[in-house]
Amino acid sequence: MRKLTIGLVGYGNVGSGLVQFLQKKKNFIKNKFQVEFAFKAICDKTIPDRKPAVPEGTLLTADYKELLKDPEITTIVELIGGVHPAREIILDAIKNGKHVVTANKSVISSHGKELFEQAQAHSVNLLYESSVMAGVPSIKMLSEGLAGNKFNAVYGIINGTCNYILSEMTSKKLSFAQALEQAQKNGFAESDPTLDINGMDSAHKIAILVNLAIRKFINLKEIHTEGIQHISHDDIEHAERLGLTIKLLAIAKRVHHELEVRVHPTLISKDHPLASINGVMNALYIDADPMGKILMSGEGAGQMAAASGVVADLINLASRSEKTAPRFFCNTHAESTEMQVIKIDQIMTKFYLRFMATDKPGVLAQIAGVLGKYDVGINSVTQNVHNKAATVPVVMLTEFAPEQMVRQALEEIHKLPIARGKPVAIRMEKLS
Ligand code: HSE
Repeated sequence: MRKLTIGLVGYGNVGSGLVQFLQKKKNFIKNKFQVEFAFKAICDKTIPDRKPAVPEGTLLTADYKELLKDPEITTIVELIGGVHPAREIILDAIKNGKHVVTANKSVISSHGKELFEQAQAHSVNLLYESSVMAGVPSIKMLSEGLAGNKFNAVYGIINGTCNYILSEMTSKKLSFAQALEQAQKNGFAESDPTLDINGMDSAHKIAILVNLAIRKFINLKEIHTEGIQHISHDDIEHAERLGLTIKLLAIAKRVHHELEVRVHPTLISKDHPLASINGVMNALYIDADPMGKILMSGEGAGQMAAASGVVADLINLASRSEKTAPRFFCNTHAESTEMQVIKIDQIMTKFYLRFMATDKPGVLAQIAGVLGKYDVGINSVTQNVHNKAATVPVVMLTEFAPEQMVRQALEEIHKLPIARGKPVAIRMEKLS
């Protein structure tokens, strides 16, 4: 029987979930893997005020350094989230020869290179399965399951909160605020849900996946990121009528010798399997060569989902022989520096456009004229006429066009006397 003695830093929703998970599955894990886990100490800055219930005999402290001093503790589990002080705690743990398991996407996406290099230098493991899609094994799928494949494209629904909000707005017609409140109640959202809804959480996660898939540490600033805060019921309904659905997609794909990495609301066909990923479910749709297409899906947020990924890493650690080389699941050596990320205004994409315009003859011709001037082809037009409203929506789907041209056309259309309000533009993705 192997025993892994853990120091846990962060005793919030996921931290307490981890302790509950391991208590509940203690015998099952013991019998199946011949492994036992012991929480020797738990550190949380709120501990002096909160005095939470913890397993018997566990030391409670607000000072993580106490965990690092203890030679019996071989593994630090970091579950505080955020970049600071998580980066400093992980570095300190590594330098003290402790293995680290974390669910922290912010710190891995922003400081992964430094952390992996330090882990390598100190011969310790740094595992982070739960940082992307929680317990759904995305890190293992990319790094191990599909080892040997070249990744052409990775499309992810990788924020449970946003997917839940969009699904509830679509199926139950909830308002954005009502759906967000429910996501928070269910424990899907970050403590600051801004990171979920402005797309940053998905950007952190796709940066991690790009490192595994394409061998590149990507600067978060290079990821064009838009959230779902401006998605309206009107656009959800227009999209539905056109056989489309809106998802917050994180996209990473090779285009010739360059890379597109972006996060934004995206219209996809209702017939594509990704369109049926609803609620808190996350999914990755991958085009790998020579394997082909893969879809992996599961609950990507929530207490037990997040704890599950951490437990998988702990079992992985405990089952490893001390003689085997440590694991980082990253590419610090073979970095693909020559692949540059294409700026968003340089990409070619299709758009869903919605203009609010005065209900007068000639409106369509004026809008189409400006789009034509910028060489933006129109694939379809829908206009609700005779509804007696002074302002009507004009919905257009474009052909593939350079983003820059579409943006310039929209600016010009916005200035037309017939325009009422800013045009809405949502990118479309044709997934095979
Ligand atoms: N807030 C995150 C989400 C939690 O909604 O996906 C899991 O990373």
